[in-house]
Amino acid sequence: MKVLVVGSGGREHALCWSIAASPLCDKLYCAPGNAGITREAECVPIGAEDVAGLVSFAKENAIDFVVVGPEAPLVMGLADDLRAAGIKTFGPSAAAAQIEGSKAYMKDLLTKSGVPTAAYGRFTDSATAKAYITEQGAPIVVKTDGLAAGKGVILCDTVDEAHAAVDSMMTDKTFGDAGNEIVIEEFLDGEEASFFALVDGTRALPLISAQDHKAVGDGDTGPNTGGMGAYSPAPVMTGALTEEVMETIINPTVKTMADMGTPYVGVLFAGLMISKTGTKILEYNVRFGDPECQVLMRRLKSDILPALIAAADGQLDRFNLRWHDDAAMIVVMAANGYPGAYEKGSEIKGVNAAEGQDDIVIFHAGTKKDGETLTATGGRVLGVTAMGTSVTDAQSKAYNAVDAIEWPGGFCRRDIGWRAVEREAKAAK
Ligand code: AMP
Ligand code: GLY
Repeated sequence: MKVLVVGSGGREHALCWSIAASPLCDKLYCAPGNAGITREAECVPIGAEDVAGLVSFAKENAIDFVVVGPEAPLVMGLADDLRAAGIKTFGPSAAAAQIEGSKAYMKDLLTKSGVPTAAYGRFTDSATAKAYITEQGAPIVVKTDGLAAGKGVILCDTVDEAHAAVDSMMTDKTFGDAGNEIVIEEFLDGEEASFFALVDGTRALPLISAQDHKAVGDGDTGPNTGGMGAYSPAPVMTGALTEEVMETIINPTVKTMADMGTPYVGVLFAGLMISKTGTKILEYNVRFGDPECQVLMRRLKSDILPALIAAADGQLDRFNLRWHDDAAMIVVMAANGYPGAYEKGSEIKGVNAAEGQDDIVIFHAGTKKDGETLTATGGRVLGVTAMGTSVTDAQSKAYNAVDAIEWPGGFCRRDIGWRAVEREAKAAK
């Protein structure tokens, strides 16, 4: 069959790498893709948010199945338009994608489903929002309702900071229309984990867990990013906790969405906060996490394509996926300056040598190739992934590969996986 993957990041490279290995896939396209993805797929220069362009391409090229990577085209209705054109698609409708597109919608849906989440209020005027903050006290979290490229969440230690966040979102419009409505939320303390399930409209199949590192600096310091690295399994996510999350969070959400007439089809990504007092959901995303997807694809033993098709066809009950027992780690290499303004066009050398090392696969995010010269075009640029017998083993292999890459214009964190490595060291004593 002919498959089209939409997107251009490390997540999409990992998906293409998995899908290209499927015996069911005769021809793989990626729009727009990147320099690394050209190994796995034919890249076509159509932007991930060019909904009309993607639908025409899929029709003209008789694409059998489309896998949508990022959230923005889903929120814009790409999956609806593809299905209306008769093309099977993995990804939720625009209505269902509101679960990521609008935090206010998501929080109301969680409340309706009885799913444990932080206490919250929704506000469309700043005076009421500030009064709520004063009443609740700090620490407290202020979020834009709409998508703000992962930046619309401000964790505030004081009431004054929270009032300033309200002004920045509602008065200064720092995040544009995304801040027309805001959500103010109880601060939850604990350990975060990323939980993924494939959903076919009425049923959910849990995937394995992963943990990412959002802060840019070692020791989880500095500003938040899309994710500087990840590993799987996440030791905090035990089998019992997986069952609890399916029962108290994922299944009730899927049921409510189906009952509301907006069934969810695709991958549901729950950002969890695990604490001594219980596990709550921070947010839903309508896509695979990036970089989490890169470790998930490394650990997947089964063919991914039939599972994605089964989700799109409403037939997940026939499925069970198998995973490698080995651990996987990804270390993100980003351009100097990221997540702020960063330099573009610096040259990267040594990627082939790094990839020649045992158990290493390098996924590309923001790269361009001219002849044999590889240059950086994005903030997050490379995903260096390794498999190992433990997270500690995968970590040491990943950093050996990182050290073989010559890229003065880039940097990475040196402590990805520290929680799991500490746990493994304690267990070995
Ligand atoms: P979100 O985009 O909602 O996942 O928020 C981004 C990050 O902000 C999360 O991964 C958490 O680290 C943090 N965060 C969001 N909401 C809360 C909360 N209610 N309490 C504590 N941390 C939060
Ligand atoms: N790594 C977190 C995300 O993809 O949102």
